[in-house]
Amino acid sequence: MTTITSAERQALDLDAADPLPTRRAEFHVPPHNSGQHSPGEAAYFAGNSLGLQPKALRGRLGAELDDWARLGVEGHLEAERPWFSYHELLRGPAARLVGARPEEVVVMNSLTVNLHLLMVSFYRPTPRRHAILIEDSAFPSDSYAVRSQAAFHGYDPDEAVIRLKPRRGEAVLRTDDVVDFVRAHGDSIALILLGAVNYYTGELFDIDAITAAGHDAGAVVGWDLAHAAGNVPLRLHEVGADWAAWCSYKYLNAGPGSLAGVFVHERHLADRTLPKLAGWWSTEAGTRFEMAPTVTPVDTADSWQLSNPPILAMAPVLASLEMFDETGMAKLRAKSMRLTSYLEQQLQEAWQKWPGVTVITPRDPRLRGAQLSVRIADRDVGPLTVRLRHEFGVFTDARRPDVIRLAPVPMYNTFHDCWRAANALARVLDG
Ligand SMILES: Cc1ncc(COP(=O)(O)O)c(C=O)c1O
Repeated sequence: MTTITSAERQALDLDAADPLPTRRAEFHVPPHNSGQHSPGEAAYFAGNSLGLQPKALRGRLGAELDDWARLGVEGHLEAERPWFSYHELLRGPAARLVGARPEEVVVMNSLTVNLHLLMVSFYRPTPRRHAILIEDSAFPSDSYAVRSQAAFHGYDPDEAVIRLKPRRGEAVLRTDDVVDFVRAHGDSIALILLGAVNYYTGELFDIDAITAAGHDAGAVVGWDLAHAAGNVPLRLHEVGADWAAWCSYKYLNAGPGSLAGVFVHERHLADRTLPKLAGWWSTEAGTRFEMAPTVTPVDTADSWQLSNPPILAMAPVLASLEMFDETGMAKLRAKSMRLTSYLEQQLQEAWQKWPGVTVITPRDPRLRGAQLSVRIADRDVGPLTVRLRHEFGVFTDARRPDVIRLAPVPMYNTFHDCWRAANALARVLDG
């Protein structure tokens, strides 16, 4: 029989006493049966890459498949949730998730596609002002996207794309340094595009301060919310961000490659001068089936849509957004801070004993989301994460050569998971 240490007991007690009970039982947690301390389930810390599958999803997908089987094409109007207007169901909950007005959001396509569609409208370079500012540790897809946009407009990406680096000897880029850079060089910047939560470090930027600085400098400010949506509360409308886009397969648990969201600030919605690409879902819904040769514009984010929505891909997003609506981002954020701080405290033992182990994520909970990125100097983290998973059932993510990312996701992770992760990490470092 396995004896429970006082540290493990403390974790179990914290779970029992927490004001926001975990919704773990509503998710499929990958099984893990070998080794100690694994009550049949993995401790899953990879929800910042791919969130877990909600158990209710099979039923939700089944309902759409049944309607399709029963109704064929008539499902567009007669399905329980008619497909013609299905995307409307996502508008309210998606808006609440990112702090937007309903008409400012739409769910469509995938993230990089949406970044491009939005840059068609919001990257309008001139010879004097054509720079795009990103963080040096931007997710590669964003880097490729902005470089290809600059090249598309005839600029040299090496010159047009500015990559902001952290200060020498520091791992994260300070918001103050972004703001100072924008103040000093703003008149050449056409677009600022940052990850609100950086995928690598887990840093949460000050969205208000950077948006304001960008606007003062005359730049457009867009946000990649891939690691922020469903992770931290957002106030896009109030902050006045010009636009944003996010995927829904990480914290939003809508499945691999699932559909992405778009926000366009209200002040741009009726601007008919914005260049846009169009398709039949860009036109006004009431006259769509008149099959007119030209678009009748709508003054909502829907006008960035192109195609009729893929219902089987949208059903998981709707199911997920309903869960976020039920629990609410404020409560999730509070729990996320408790879990992440607890994980940090548990890991402390590891980095005291091994001088090469440091957390590169900001230590101030207000400056990070549900993620700790642990740097393990002089060790290849690849084999370590394989051992964490196979020997201890702890799913993490290796960013080679030396960073392991752990995301304690408040929807389904527990304090006990955090204890398991720290305990397992200490053991693999030892062995
Ligand atoms: C910050 C960020 N941007 C962009 C992407 C690319 O997303 P997609 O493959 O959905 O276009 C990812 C994917 O993980 C990401 O984390």
